[in-house]
Order: sequence, then structure tokens, then C-alpha cells
Amino acid sequence: MAADILSVTDNRTGQAYEIPIEDGAIRATELRRIKIAEDDFGLMSYDPAFLNTASCRSAVTFIDGDRGILRYRGYPIEQLAEESTYLETSYLLLFGELPTSAELNRWTDEITHHTFVHENVKGLMEAFRYDAHPMGMFISAVAALSTFYPEAAQVDDPENRLLQSKRLIAKVPTLAAWTYRHSRGLPYVYPDNELGFAGNFLSMMFRMAEPRYAADPALERALEVLFILHADHEQNCSANATRSIGSSRVDPYSALAGAAAALYGPLHGGANEAVLRMLAEIGDVRHVPAYVERVKAGEVLLMGFGHRIYKNYDPRARIIKETADQVFEVTGRSPLLDVALELEKIALEDEYFVSRKLYPNVDFYSGLIYEALGLPVAMFSVMFAIPRTAGWLAQWLEGVNDPEQKIARPRQLYVGAEERDYVPLKHRAGGELAAV
Ligand SMILES: CC(C)(COP(=O)(O)OP(=O)(O)OC[C@H]1O[C@@H](n2cnc3c(N)ncnc32)[C@H](O)[C@@H]1OP(=O)(O)O)[C@@H](O)C(=O)NCCC(=O)NCCS
Repeated sequence: MAADILSVTDNRTGQAYEIPIEDGAIRATELRRIKIAEDDFGLMSYDPAFLNTASCRSAVTFIDGDRGILRYRGYPIEQLAEESTYLETSYLLLFGELPTSAELNRWTDEITHHTFVHENVKGLMEAFRYDAHPMGMFISAVAALSTFYPEAAQVDDPENRLLQSKRLIAKVPTLAAWTYRHSRGLPYVYPDNELGFAGNFLSMMFRMAEPRYAADPALERALEVLFILHADHEQNCSANATRSIGSSRVDPYSALAGAAAALYGPLHGGANEAVLRMLAEIGDVRHVPAYVERVKAGEVLLMGFGHRIYKNYDPRARIIKETADQVFEVTGRSPLLDVALELEKIALEDEYFVSRKLYPNVDFYSGLIYEALGLPVAMFSVMFAIPRTAGWLAQWLEGVNDPEQKIARPRQLYVGAEERDYVPLKHRAGGELAAV
């Protein structure tokens, strides 16, 4: 068998190097040995957007984008979506194994009893304008939690890490629901400890004067499935943000607020909102072909299509499509579903999308489900953040426990000005500076 070694010759010097290959990768720091002079810094790899850089070793989530495979801790996403609950899945993500029945009962009980937030959080919510975007409120509220739990700063203490993790998983639905209640001018609803995770969330969202809010079981289960599907997705933009911020050893509330901010962007968790706006803009199946032409002309993106990792069907999209059918049986069919189906049909047959391996991603149908549940589009990325909290925590815990990790600090290729002398204001040439 050939040795796991990469032999390279630096043609600048004629020097040959042997670089060990481990787990299908070379250590980028090995390249530093490749120099043209003793005082040379050494070779770097240039990888904007981390297209080919593994930033960590992880045992949490496995994705094979070419084959459309997603597994949490080895368990296929299809089986978890069929059999599991969000709380069981969050336990699996954090602890690495499925819980026994006693462990699951205890975990469920503990999460349920951490759902309340400090009363001052209400004041925080009230400080926002009536039309504040719920995600801006959510990010702020998650960050604010660190001020209520200053002991969370002790990130080297495993007990403390676990306590804060339970608090985060338990409290994000409360914060999320309250952002919605605020935007509607409705009174905040306290958690109901008799309800399940998804049922309690729906209660905090929609309960009015009734003593107990009873969600339709099919809708509750659909939400649970969406939560399972969104719980983790290995080193995506927001997971990377969690790890990067967490590498400074800051408390997990601050790290997860940063992760939520990353999720807010339209190329990440904001895409489902963008999908619904796109479907509404298209408005009718008859307008689909013209819209596809605009996409192909490069005028607009087909939101909810394409993925950095999946170059085959996103396995979550398939499950979500089935879930959407179950939801529509209860709520009635959204007229935008026909637009979505037609868009998917045309795109899947079109050479532009086929050659670029652009398939529907998780966000293509999730927005339609959220809409059917009665959620405004502005809440969609908040809905993503609730379950992703478990994934962020699993990634954060793995990062802070990894002896190989240090503070995340990439290198750069400096392309700016060479050293130059300061010019006093009166000697500078006029003219407007272009925005940078
Ligand atoms: C997800 C996404 C950011 C991945 O981007 P990426 O891995 O950097 O892929 P690229 O931008 O290199 O795309 C490759 C090609 O497909 C095209 N493409 C990618 N996504 C496209 C989309 N949604 N609509 C139209 N064309 C798209 C690109 O223009 C590019 O074409 P080119 O080779 O002619 O230049 C991108 O597909 C996208 O913006 N999708 C829409 C937003 C979305 O749904 N995000 C949710 C992700 S879960």
C-alpha cells in the first residue's frame, strides 16, 4: 500500500518536501516548512469562504453532499424525522448517544423546567419598536441572557456548560414566541410545563384567553419534524460562527447570539423568508417560466435552490415536502404551493439548473409550512434558530473541549499599500473618496 504522504517539489527552490496525509487531509501548518529563505514566513493556503478547509474534527453530523446523506451522530435524518422528537434529537446531538427512557424523561423534565425567562426580559422586548424585525430582537435577547447568568463565563467547568446548554435549549422558544407577541402588540404568554416542546411553543405564540392552548396534533408533529431537520448541519456559516466566537472562551449566550446573527442572512437562515417573498412575487403558475428565464439571465437567484454542500437532492427537502402535505391537509392548501411545485418541476428539467446541480434545499418548502401555521415571514429565520440552538451547542461543546483548538484566527494575504508617510490635511489632494 502506498504511504499516506504527499510529496511536493517547490520549483522556486527545487526543494522536495514530504507532507503526511491524515484522514484525507494535510495540515495547513505543514506548508509553512516550504520556504524560499530561512526568514521567509513559509507557504500559506489561500481559501476564501473555506471551500476546501476542514476547520475542526467533528463527531456530530455527517453530510455526503454528492449522495444526499445527512446523519446526526450516525443516525440517518430520515429515521430521526420519522421516529424521534426534537428533545431526544437534541440530547443525541449534545451527548452523542440516544438517551435511555430514564435519561430522556430527566432531560425532558429539565428542559421543561428551564423554559421561563427572567421577568426583565419583558422589559427588553418592550424597548423595541413595534415593527422591529423579530430576528433582531431574538439575537439581542439571546445575548442579553448572558447578563442574567454571569456564571456562564466559566466555560471550563463541564457542569456549568451543561446547565447553560439546558437553559439555552429551553429558553429560545420563549424568546422567539415573545418577539412575535411583541410585533403583534399581544401580551406575552408564559410557558406551559404540561405541554411538549413544540406544543408549548405554539401555545406561547397563539394562546389568547383559553386556559390551555391545544395545538392540532398533526401541526405539532409537523413542527417537531421541522425542528429535527433543522437541528444541525455541521460546519455551516452559523456553526462556524459559534465555534469561532466560542474559541475566544466567551460565554455560550454571546457565542450563540453571534451564531443567530450569521443565521439571519438571506444566504443562510433568511432564505426561507426570501423563498416566500419570491413565490408571492411570482404569484401565479403562469408566471413561472418567465421567472425562470430571469434566473437564467442572472437577474435574480432562485431562492431555496442550490447548496454549498448538497449537489444532489437535499434529503431534508424531501422530508419537508411530505410534511407540507400533512400540514396542508389540516390548514388547507396554500395557493403558493402550486407556484412552488411548478418552479421545482421546471427547474429540475432545465439544463441551467441540472448542469449546476441546483436542487431544492431545506428552505424551499419550509416557508410554506410556517405560513400555513400562521407565522409571518419575518418569523421564519427565528423558527430556524430555535432548533439550531441544539446544533450550535453541540458544535460549541465539541470546540471548547477540543485540545487542538485555539482562538480562531485566520491569516490574510495583504494586498494594501506599502508603508507611506502621513500627509497633513492641508496637503492632501481634494476629491471624493469612493465608498469601500
Ligand atoms: C446556497 C448558495 C449560497 C450556495 O452557493 P455556492 O456554493 O457558493 O454556489 P455558487 O454561487 O458557486 O453557484 C454555482 C453556480 O450556480 C448558480 N447558482 C447557485 N445558486 C443559484 C440559485 N439559487 N439560483 C440561480 N443560480 C444559482 C451560480 O450563479 C453559479 O453559476 P455560474 O457557475 O454560472 O457562475 C447558493 O446556491 C444560493 O445563493 N442559493 C439561494 C439562497 C438559498 O436558498 N440559500 C439557502 C441555503 S440552505
